[in-house]
Amino acid sequence: MSDSYSLLILPGDGIGPEVMAEVRKIIDWFQSNRGMRFDVSEDLVGGAAYDVHGKPITDETMAKAQSVDAVLLGAVGGPAYDNLDFSVKPERALLRLRKEMDLFANLRPAQCFDALADFSSLKREVVSGLDILIVRELTSGVYFGEPRGIHSDGNNPENEGGRVGINTQRYTSGEIRRVARAAFELARKRKNRLCSMEKANVMESGVLWREEVQWVHDNEYPEVELTHMYADNGAMQLVRRPSQFDVIVTDNLFGDILSDAAAMLTGSLGMLPSASLGVPAANGRPKAMYEPVHGSAPDIAGQGKANPIACILSFAMALRYSYNEGAAADELEAAVERVLAQGARTADLMGPEGGTPIGTAEMGDRIVAA
Ligand code: NAI
Ligand code: MG
Repeated sequence: MSDSYSLLILPGDGIGPEVMAEVRKIIDWFQSNRGMRFDVSEDLVGGAAYDVHGKPITDETMAKAQSVDAVLLGAVGGPAYDNLDFSVKPERALLRLRKEMDLFANLRPAQCFDALADFSSLKREVVSGLDILIVRELTSGVYFGEPRGIHSDGNNPENEGGRVGINTQRYTSGEIRRVARAAFELARKRKNRLCSMEKANVMESGVLWREEVQWVHDNEYPEVELTHMYADNGAMQLVRRPSQFDVIVTDNLFGDILSDAAAMLTGSLGMLPSASLGVPAANGRPKAMYEPVHGSAPDIAGQGKANPIACILSFAMALRYSYNEGAAADELEAAVERVLAQGARTADLMGPEGGTPIGTAEMGDRIVAA
């Protein structure tokens, strides 16, 4: 019997609770059939927390998130909260979780399930069998660097409008090394290949990025095959021949864009999981939060139509990266693949050929059965 795995579930708003209910079924299955024990707690986040506590996440929930092996979050936000003050908006809960847990490595897999290959905007033969992992630095870079802001440009007669907008791309060597290490560790568990992307040709922060990633390679992971690529070429290569990549590591801004582009190589938003990892704790498990890439989907919330696969695959990532249960993660992903191959489709996965979609709960049940 393994020791128990602590998990904090934060369903959130809109379709968040609907897709999370299906993950609960999966957790129960692993407990009943694979001898795992999960110590699961559940709490409010986002608008659901605001409704009760007047803030999108409480200090108690934050403390709980800090103490568990993994957090699994559904989605937050919705039209009812759009006019709230910025400081209590549902999305602030995500920012607070990422920041206070110091989740600096954001993992976004782009995996093509064969049954959905015709869903891609690219040709089947280009995306078939595709399985890449983008590691995006999440807590630094141009989204956080100082100085920032919008200022008056004095009385500069050459600047029509008279204003300047400023953001600063700033990375320390330590920030680069730690995300590089996370990426090398992942590469080592996969195909032993890592591609680092920046713009060292035009940005000093890119030169530092390249040097530090190379340093981590030479000193700690010489056996992993490392290549460097300019991020604009990387964007081109991702749509030209994505299968040339296995693990990609890049900064916050380029990672934001490249991971969205890579995601769409493989189909629907309802399929995309993510993980955000921090520093490993004493037990070797990193601080970690797992969440589907999609939002709260207010247009379909409460209708039982949402695709639960993104949230289920996020839980598979938790099995792999937080609980070191790689075989169980493979088993869960294989079950998803099998159900799709059998033709099960939620409404978001209906192609032009049509058919009858199944609901959220039925998709969950079929995955459990598989
Ligand atoms: P969204 O991802 O919620 O929805 C975009 C479109 O994709 C909608 O048509 C929706 O029905 C569909 N969709 C999303 N997930 C689906 C699923 N699992 N199954 C089937 N269809 C799915 O993005 P949107 O509409 O821009 O934002 C809605 C709300 O969610 C906003 O309040 C936004 O701030 C919030 N949001 C929250 C995120 C999070 O919690 N991480 C991320 C993105 C948005
Ligand atoms: Mg984005």
